[in-house]
Amino acid sequence: MTFKALVVEKADDGSTKASVQTLEESLLPDGDVTVAVEYSTLNYKDGLCIGPGGGLVRTYPHVPGIDFAGRVETSTDERYKPGDKVVLTGWRVGEVWWGGYAQKARVKADWLVPLPEGLTTQDAMAIGTAGFTAMLAIMALEDHGLKPEKGPVLVTGAAGGVGSVATAVLAHLGYEVAAVTGRPETEDYLRGLGASRIVPREELAETVKRPLESETWAGCVDAVGGAMLARVLGQMKHSASVAAVGLAGGAALPATVVPFLLRGVNLLGIDSVMQPYQNRVRAWNRLARDLPLDKLRAMIQPATLSDLPELGAAILKGAVKGRAVVDVNA
Ligand SMILES: NC(=O)c1ccc[n+]([C@@H]2O[C@H](COP(=O)([O-])OP(=O)(O)OC[C@H]3O[C@@H](n4cnc5c(N)ncnc54)[C@H](OP(=O)(O)O)[C@@H]3O)[C@@H](O)[C@H]2O)c1
Repeated sequence: MTFKALVVEKADDGSTKASVQTLEESLLPDGDVTVAVEYSTLNYKDGLCIGPGGGLVRTYPHVPGIDFAGRVETSTDERYKPGDKVVLTGWRVGEVWWGGYAQKARVKADWLVPLPEGLTTQDAMAIGTAGFTAMLAIMALEDHGLKPEKGPVLVTGAAGGVGSVATAVLAHLGYEVAAVTGRPETEDYLRGLGASRIVPREELAETVKRPLESETWAGCVDAVGGAMLARVLGQMKHSASVAAVGLAGGAALPATVVPFLLRGVNLLGIDSVMQPYQNRVRAWNRLARDLPLDKLRAMIQPATLSDLPELGAAILKGAVKGRAVVDVNA
């Protein structure tokens, strides 16, 4: 019994190489549930794991892919039976454990969630970790009082995966969305997802000039971090929250504490990897309800396993628009 997978190998000089290979099923790691994978996707972290690893991958040869959706083939756990449709994101699958860039995956039952009603496995991977994280960010903002009547919501890194889903969901929920992008050519795409205003990246790229600027945003989903996040903190309305999701623009935070002290601004950390089961199910059900499928399908760029080395390098350069969806059986 064999299956196809994208395998990353490391040479003695430390360089890595990714190629599609045929593997024996006996090489799959231990786990409760074996899944016939139908689709996977591409996230920023996948770009790191397809390439030199970014310190995330521990052992080689490695099968990356932090997300997958497919059909249960065998299960020793009573929660899942053959034929059930399942989704996996996070839990360091595709980093420490073999992941979804393969026709077969074997994982712990605790890491899976049932495919939400109303979504196909392809839709679930158009969402993937990026979209799941966007929804966690929106839920955190709502839990801290965000409502459409409070004012415009800023989405940074808007044409990327997290940003695209955040823009589409917020617009569908009735929010006025201001989308920050460094790619002016994505304006029509972002407006199609529901953004009512485009903010050029340069406007927010500089570090904090004054710790407080005029109160502009009622909320923010931030995929960029760095100087942009520092700048945005000073533009938040009183008591408003920023959900910090990513570091596409840098990990340092050259900010002051003044927005926290004088405006009661909240900085909410979002981690998609170790989310407990109940919150995962809540987020997936919200995605099935609040992300219009026509908008989701407009974000898709179809891909195969052999496209991944090139796509992995592209996402690290911020050059992938929307969501690449990988048909692992193509
Ligand atoms: N916390 C979590 O659990 C979690 C989960 C998923 C992702 N993340 C993180 O969230 C970030 C976004 O992930 P993603 O999958 O959406 O990646 P992505 O598709 O590459 O999107 C990132 C976007 O950020 C913008 N960007 C890139 N480089 C930039 C720079 N130097 N300065 C300012 N903006 C820049 C680009 O948008 P424009 O072209 O529109 O400007 C790019 O499309 C990553 O840092 C990722 O690691 C975290």
